[in-house]
Formats: sequence, structure tokens, C-alpha cells
Amino acid sequence: MTGNGSFEPIIVGFTCNWCSYRAADSAGMARTKYAPNVYLIRLMCSGRVDPQFILKAFADGADGVLITGCHPGDCHYVEQNYKTLRRFTLLKETLKALGIEEGRVKLIWASAAEGMILANEIDIMVTEVKALGPLGWKAMAWKPESEDSEFLLAGLARASAGGE
Ligand code: FES
Repeated sequence: MTGNGSFEPIIVGFTCNWCSYRAADSAGMARTKYAPNVYLIRLMCSGRVDPQFILKAFADGADGVLITGCHPGDCHYVEQNYKTLRRFTLLKETLKALGIEEGRVKLIWASAAEGMILANEIDIMVTEVKALGPLGWKAMAWKPESEDSEFLLAGLARASAGGE
């Protein structure tokens, strides 16, 4: 189904309460148009995004996952977004091992004033995921509780523990 123009991807977007959620809000207030494929979930900080959330999103039918947060140095919880960055780097490797293409996960920093930038990045991601086609994990009934993912997540947790 790759390249199918009728495919509308589902993208789960984790936002930080203090920056990127407000950026999305300001994009809406400014009536900035962007692809409606992203379902935003507000967390207090990007550092709250547990890698399990991403696997769960894919297992529940997401075709892409977007993680957003405050710019490095601006995190309201001191340096949790640096932890996000370290985790994201490791997460991409884990997802690659699970057969997930790189374009299906994205990390974007956006301040509350950067609604236009966030909207633009969302549009770019939706176009990229459309080109990749549906992921189809839900149809395969793949569950993050499987032994493989537990093993990979344990390794990821160990590797990122230095930043806890
Ligand atoms: Fe926004 Fe931490 S408070 S990333």
C-alpha cells in the first residue's frame, strides 16, 4: 500500500505541557493549518515518555509516533529533555531491530511560540509516513509484552539509566 494516496496515517504525538502542547495550541489559535493525522497526548515533560508508550502506540494501530518537548536547556524539570534525547537515540536502534522504519518516529523541540514550526514539522512527518504506508502491527496482533520487546526494552532501560 506504499504510495497509496488514500492512506491517512495515524500518528500519536506526545507533547510537553509547557512548550510543545502550547505550540500546538498557538498554531490552532493562529488558525495555522496542519495535517489532522496527529493525535496529541499531553504529558508534563518529554522526559515522561517511556519507551513502552511508543511500542504500545504502534501495537494499538499508530503508523507513526511523534515526541515533542522544550528545547534543550529550557526543560521545566531541569534536564529531563536531555534524557529524552538519549532515550530517543537508543529507541531508534531498538525500533530498527523490530523492523520499524526510521521515519515513523520523530523528536521535535518546539517552544510555546513555535506553533508554525511544529505545524510544519507535523506536515512533513505525515507526508513521510504516508510514503511508508501503514505499519500494520495492530493487524498482526503484535503486543509489546512479547519476550522480544521485553528483552529490547530492558536493554534500552539499562542503557539510558545513566541519565535517570
Ligand atoms: Fe518540556 Fe521537560 S518540561 S521537555
